[in-house]
Amino acid sequence: MKVIRAKTAGFCFGVDRAVKLTYDLLGQGRRVATLGPLIHNPQVVQDLEAKGALTCDGVEDVPDGYEVIIRSHGVPQNVYEKISTRGLAYHDATCPFVAKIHKLAAEAGKKGALLLVAGDANHPEVQGIVGHATGPVRVFADLEELQNLLPELLQQESIHVVAQTTFRVESWESCKAFLKKECTKAEIFDTICNATWARQQEAEDLSQKCDRMVVIGGHHSSNTQKLLQVAARHTTAINVETADELDPAWLAGAETVGVTAGASTPSSIIEEVLNSMSEEIRDDMSFEEMLAASEA
Ligand code: F3S
Repeated sequence: MKVIRAKTAGFCFGVDRAVKLTYDLLGQGRRVATLGPLIHNPQVVQDLEAKGALTCDGVEDVPDGYEVIIRSHGVPQNVYEKISTRGLAYHDATCPFVAKIHKLAAEAGKKGALLLVAGDANHPEVQGIVGHATGPVRVFADLEELQNLLPELLQQESIHVVAQTTFRVESWESCKAFLKKECTKAEIFDTICNATWARQQEAEDLSQKCDRMVVIGGHHSSNTQKLLQVAARHTTAINVETADELDPAWLAGAETVGVTAGASTPSSIIEEVLNSMSEEIRDDMSFEEMLAASEA
């Protein structure tokens, strides 16, 4: 069995930055609280909590004397106001790609435009974007929901369109094509981040070459689930959070297995999954085959 690891697998720039910042502060003995789990990876969150970080639902839950960490997803504008009212110190790890969308959201309202957001309305990043809007906002999850909004869109003078940074690239392309044809006044801003483009593209390419695809990452991680959807279009794909979840029987008979990972998956977990797979390869090999493989 040949295992091919995606070059882009694992932490993206924004997640890496937020995680390093939090470990650095904890290493300095500071008391820190994150607003929601820092990243969508339970193992990393548990480790941070074991080192003293608090995970709070909102600013009101942060104990006095703690420094707030704003995660890479960003937060609505009113959260900054709540932090300031409580007089808490804070560190802003909002990813610059997300911060750019916050700026676009605020500008749309100032220019009298409706803000149209492609994304999951329940995702914290989208809630943050909506919370920076200064005028009317509509959120749509896919082409069908966008099509349903068309009568309302045609009544608008001006429309600015943005996408959640981790939106599915293929779906975004079809939504853009629809708007360009049916609603020509919509001004479209391509805000899917580079990390998402690269990961989804690589998952697309790799899944076409493999009998199975293993997508490592949190079951609640939006970008991981999108990688899974992309991979599942071309081959049999599975999402695992840790090596324990990968059933060796699932790989039986596969000649080539592709491995990718969501943007919030640490390299240590990727290595564990890869190691568990190579143990499986060794189990499948005769001693002569193992020797030949080790000499190759
Ligand atoms: Fe930033 Fe994109 Fe990662 S928006 S947090 S680089 S997935």
